[in-house]
Order: sequence, then structure tokens, then C-alpha cells
Amino acid sequence: MTVKTGNERPIIRLEKLSKDYGDFRALHGVDLEVRKGEVLAIIGPSGSGKSTLLRCVNYIEPPTSGTLHIADVTVRAGVDDTTRKIRALRANLGMVFQSFNLFPHISVLRNVALPQERVLGRSRAEAEEVARTLLGRVGLANKADQFPVRCSGGQQQRIAIARALALGPKVMLFDEPTSALDPELGLEVLSVMRELAESGMTMLVVTHEMGFAENVSDHALIMAEGRIIEEGPSRELIRNPQTERARQFLRAVNER
Ligand SMILES: Nc1ncnc2c1ncn2[C@@H]1O[C@H](COP(=O)(O)OP(=O)(O)O)[C@@H](O)[C@H]1O
Ligand SMILES: [Mg+2]
Repeated sequence: MTVKTGNERPIIRLEKLSKDYGDFRALHGVDLEVRKGEVLAIIGPSGSGKSTLLRCVNYIEPPTSGTLHIADVTVRAGVDDTTRKIRALRANLGMVFQSFNLFPHISVLRNVALPQERVLGRSRAEAEEVARTLLGRVGLANKADQFPVRCSGGQQQRIAIARALALGPKVMLFDEPTSALDPELGLEVLSVMRELAESGMTMLVVTHEMGFAENVSDHALIMAEGRIIEEGPSRELIRNPQTERARQFLRAVNER
């Protein structure tokens, strides 16, 4: 375990973040702070707004209202969320989804190199050098020249992690990165995520993996119906929830 002093300043601060889909309010004025180097597990029942929260943080979904402070960028939803600001905000964030979305027709190496060339303007040689380093870091140096289809789901998700890291994010967002994987393949992804956490990366992780939440994340929050209903140090929160709704959810997870 990394020792975290807990006095780092927040790298993410959300104030009263709300999201409406038509008449339906999916997020109800969420306030949240995440400190540099912190790993936050986001748990809660299906439909509680976990994905919406992550998608609003990087503006895949524009929040309806509220303010986001992400590293050095402040965006007030609906007020000054210009294209330029959203681009600056996204430059701080890497995201990994349940589905890996690799390009099937180019090699693993090119999958990790291409976004660097497009987004950061790196030369092909430089991007491929970074890609090789990161593929080594996720344990896939030997897959660089293969096509993604020759890789298992767990390997493909590790490639997706390398691809996101290659853009140099300050914060990584994970939305159920192991849900589509067989348990054993999920473990190899979780192990890469644990190493990333230990290297000091700030991470927001939506997950149903309670082992990961308890042992790797520093803090956890439980969402229900678009609100954060409980938050605190992970182990305490998961072992000793205070609300009936949280207890009910955790019982259901444990009985899976
Ligand atoms: N694009 C959308 N349009 C309308 N409703 C949506 C959309 N995306 C999500 N929702 C609704 O918002 C709520 C929260 O969804 P989501 O954030 O995906 O939950 P979770 O990730 O916790 O399962 C759900 O009721 C869902 O049906
Ligand atoms: Mg979701």
C-alpha cells in the first residue's frame, strides 16, 4: 500500500453537479472532492448515476448545472463551458470503459500510438516509443505487433489503459473496467490498476469489485438515485455502512 499523507490539495472538485435527461434528473447536485494521488471507488446499484457522474466529469455528457474544478481548469456548466475549456479539461483526464473500443484493423502498438499523434501532435517515432514503454508497463510488450483480435479481453483492456495513459492524464476515470471480463481476466486488469494506484495516479473507479474497493481505494462513495448517500474511507464504509439503502446494496453485492 502507498502511504498517503492526506494533505494534498483537491485535484478534482465538483460543486452542485446536476444532470437532467429531459425531465429526468440523473444527478442531483453532487458535491465531491478528490485529492491528488487518491483512489476513489464509486459504488452503488445499477441506474444510480455512476456512469453519468464520470461522463459529466469529462464532458462526454454536458452537465446541466454546477461547477467542475479539474486540476487547473474550472468550468461552469451552461455558463462558460466553451469548446476550448472542455478541451483543456479533457486533457487532464483519461478514461477507460467497460468496452475497450480498440481499432481492429491496426496493430496494438498503433492503437496506443495513434491518439498521441492525433491529440498531442507527437511524431510517429516518439509516439511508438511511448507506446512500447507503456505496453511493457501493462505486461504486453510482446503483443505490440499483433492485432487486437489476437488478444484476450483482459489484454485488450490493458491495452486500453496504456492508450489512455499515453496521453499523460493527471486523473484516470474507470467505468466498470472488469465487468465484461471473465473473473481471471478481470484480475489481471485489477492488478494493473493496483500498480497504477501505487505509482500515485489519481483514480476514480466505478466498480462492483469490493476487494479492489476495500484494498486499493482510499475512499469510497455509494450512490443511489443520483445522489451520494454515503462516503468515507473505503474499508469502513464497506464494512460498516450507516444507511439502510447502502446496507441493502452491499448485501446484494456480497450475495452475487
Ligand atoms: N442518455 C440517457 N438518456 C436518458 N436517460 C439516461 C441516459 N443515460 C442514463 N440515463 C438514466 O440515468 C440514470 C443513471 O444512469 P447511469 O449513470 O448509467 O447509472 P449507473 O452507471 O449507476 O448504472 C438511469 O436511470 C438511466 O436510465
Ligand atoms: Mg454505469
